[in-house]
Amino acid sequence: ITVYVPQDAVALGLGANRVARAIFAGAERRGLDVRIVRTGTRGLLWLEPMVEVATPEGRIAYGPVTPADVEGLLDAGLTEGGEHALRLGKPEEIPFLAKQHRLTFHRCGVVDPVSVEDYRAHGGYRGLEAALKLDAKGIVAQVRDSGLRGRGGAGFPAGIKWNTVMLAQSDQKYVVCNADEGDSGTFADRIMMEGDPFNLIEGMTIAAVATGATRGYIYCRSEYPQSFKTLRDAIANGVRAGVLGDNILGSGKSFHLEVRLGAGAYICGEETSLLESLEGKRGIVRAKPPIPALKGFLGKPTLVNNVMTFTAVPYILEHGAKSYAEYGMGRSLGTLPIQLAGNIRQGGLIEYAFGITIRQVIEDFGGGTASGRPVRAVQVGGPLGAYFPDDLLDTPLDYEAMAAKKGLVGHGGIVVFDDTVDMAKQARFAFEFCATESCGKCTPCRVGATRGVETMDKVISGIRPEANLKLVEDLCEIMTDGSLCAMGGLTPMPVMSAITNFPEDFRRAGDLPV
Ligand code: NAI
Ligand code: SF4
Repeated sequence: ITVYVPQDAVALGLGANRVARAIFAGAERRGLDVRIVRTGTRGLLWLEPMVEVATPEGRIAYGPVTPADVEGLLDAGLTEGGEHALRLGKPEEIPFLAKQHRLTFHRCGVVDPVSVEDYRAHGGYRGLEAALKLDAKGIVAQVRDSGLRGRGGAGFPAGIKWNTVMLAQSDQKYVVCNADEGDSGTFADRIMMEGDPFNLIEGMTIAAVATGATRGYIYCRSEYPQSFKTLRDAIANGVRAGVLGDNILGSGKSFHLEVRLGAGAYICGEETSLLESLEGKRGIVRAKPPIPALKGFLGKPTLVNNVMTFTAVPYILEHGAKSYAEYGMGRSLGTLPIQLAGNIRQGGLIEYAFGITIRQVIEDFGGGTASGRPVRAVQVGGPLGAYFPDDLLDTPLDYEAMAAKKGLVGHGGIVVFDDTVDMAKQARFAFEFCATESCGKCTPCRVGATRGVETMDKVISGIRPEANLKLVEDLCEIMTDGSLCAMGGLTPMPVMSAITNFPEDFRRAGDLPV
């Protein structure tokens, strides 16, 4: 009897290890021969820990399971998929999951994350096999034609970046994965690294073959110890199985991959400070140009992409560029891993074609707020993203459509607030976040963020509110135009969206005349 218990960080935080131990002990007492496989999560986070059992009809899920539920579940016949109040039925038929377009995440929560055999049994490495039949140009053409754009947030066409690195002449090139997922309310990279790390490893290997890189690094944030451990184990198993190291899949090509741990700085998610940190230096932003594609890690041509960009690639190579490009809208093709968090009933990971509206995500998947109160504001794209009011919620998640409404898709994080939110405080928080996380290299950000906090404090306390709000707006203009990177350059987005879309909170805060 095989029972699957997730060991994703969310499930672990909710007691998954104790649940696994209780199932094992309870089954042993009953004389049942149970094998427990630790998986990642399928992304239905409000149901974690979600335990699954293999039955002749397929897997049956139960959740959320606490250690105290286990005896009752075993009495009810958990190991045969028996009836119980926590029984959810077949996981793939749960509407939250059934409605998604899981091109990238289909193995998450299904496979043993660190097993090469399990990965291959579920279709893994077909993308790399297809890539090895093409030349470098052919692989890059597939990525270009798929329309894949950088999923870290900037949405830069991946094919163009890959082409730049491919064409660069050098004795050594590198592939670097940005796994410093720092945006508040985002967790797609984490779920992938903990649930299906070989998908990332395969995507990076395809990138290495295409660009001529022989070494790669995954820069994982220190707040993700479970991801770090899973990646390290997966890489070691990959080397043993011949899918990493020299002569990958008998092709004669080499790719050596290591995982490195960050030290907790948000700015190290910016590609140039990430490279500084990877080189062992303090994570400070480098001026661009030169772009990392030409002069990156240790001054060599380096392909830097986010976890979500690399993990889209095996599907593209296996099924062809056209199949991926059939999803999405406009110039945003393929699927977006949306992370739904904040004040929401059903939070989790939703992989869906670009073009779904924010409202559909919140209502059809999220089931409304957890508090039961009306949604008032939604922040899309992390702490540097805009706050949208109700009348902008029909905006489709598409890079251009979001930009047209002065927002951004970013890394696909959506954080929901109900009508108790104070948007003046949220605007202050944006400056405070920037002041804490600024690398300090340029003045508009280093000084501007701190002045922003002080000035917002005056607005909130009613000290010359009208004049101080005008100062905030001027400051935002300077930060947008004068900052060296997106940290200072985008902080005005949440601030200005709060002021523009929720003016009543600023009037109330400082008693401004209407
Ligand atoms: P960017 O627009 O400067 O660059 C995008 C990428 O394209 C970079 O990798 C750059 O090196 C590359 N590039 C530009 N021109 C190129 C060329 N001709 N050939 C090859 N490559 C080229 O944007 P940046 O500063 O890298 O990212 C900003 C975005 O990051 C923001 O829009 C925001 O949404 C996102 N972000 C994501 C976070 C996360 O946690 N995932 C956190 C904070 C911001
Ligand atoms: Fe550093 Fe901020 Fe300037 Fe970016 S904008 S380089 S984080 S000081």
